[in-house]
Amino acid sequence: MRIFLDTANIDQIRQGAKLGVVSGVTTNPSLVSKEGLADYTAVVKEICSIVPGPVSAEVVVEGVQAMIEQAREIATWAPNVVVKIPATADGLEVISVLAKEDIKVNMTLCFSLNQAILGALAGATYVSPFVGRLDDIGHDGMELVKDIVDVFKHYQLSTEVIAASIRHPEHCVAAAKAGAHIATVPYKVLMQMMHHPLTDIGVTRFLTDWQRVSPQ
Ligand code: E4P
Repeated sequence: MRIFLDTANIDQIRQGAKLGVVSGVTTNPSLVSKEGLADYTAVVKEICSIVPGPVSAEVVVEGVQAMIEQAREIATWAPNVVVKIPATADGLEVISVLAKEDIKVNMTLCFSLNQAILGALAGATYVSPFVGRLDDIGHDGMELVKDIVDVFKHYQLSTEVIAASIRHPEHCVAAAKAGAHIATVPYKVLMQMMHHPLTDIGVTRFLTDWQRVSPQ
C-alpha cells in the first residue's frame, strides 16, 4: 500500500516528503481553505513541485461543461496533477470525457460500491471511498474499501483504490489488510503510524545503558 498525504499545508508536505514514504498528495477545497490560501493555482503548483507523485486537486464548479473546462485547466498546472471529480451523474459524464483525453481523474466523495464501479468503467484512474465519513454515520467504511478492492480485482479493473477520510492509524492498518492500493492520510496520522511508546522506551534504555560503559 502506498501513502499519500491528505493536506494542503505546505510545511506538512515538505516534512512528509523528507520521510521518503509519501508518494502523492490529495487536497480538497476544505483543506485548501483551511490554510487560508487565496491562490489555488499557485498552491497546487507548489505542492506538485514538492512531491513528484500524483497530486489531486478538485474542481470547484458545478455542471458538466464547467467541470470539464476547469478540469482541463487544472490538468495543465503540472504533469503530476490529478483532477478530483465528485461521484455524481454529472461527474461520471465528466470523467468519461476526461479519460478519453488522458486526463487522470480521482473520483472523490465515493460512498458506495456502485459509484466505484461506475467511476472505474468511466475511466477514473483512482476512486476514493471516504471511510471516516461512512463510519461517522454508523456504517463500516472499511467494508466498502474491501468490497471495491475485491470487485476491481475480480473484473481486472485497473482503477486504483484510495482509502480516504482516514482518521486514525487503525484505519491505515485496516486499509492495508483490505488491499487498498493507497491510503491518503492527514499528517498527524502519518506521524502516529510510526510512533510506538515501546520504541521510545527502548531507545532511551539503549542510550542510557551505552553511556554507563562508554568512556566520557
Ligand atoms: C480525500 O481525498 C479527502 O480529501 C479527505 O480524505 C476527506 O477527509 P475528511 O472526511 O476527514 O474530510
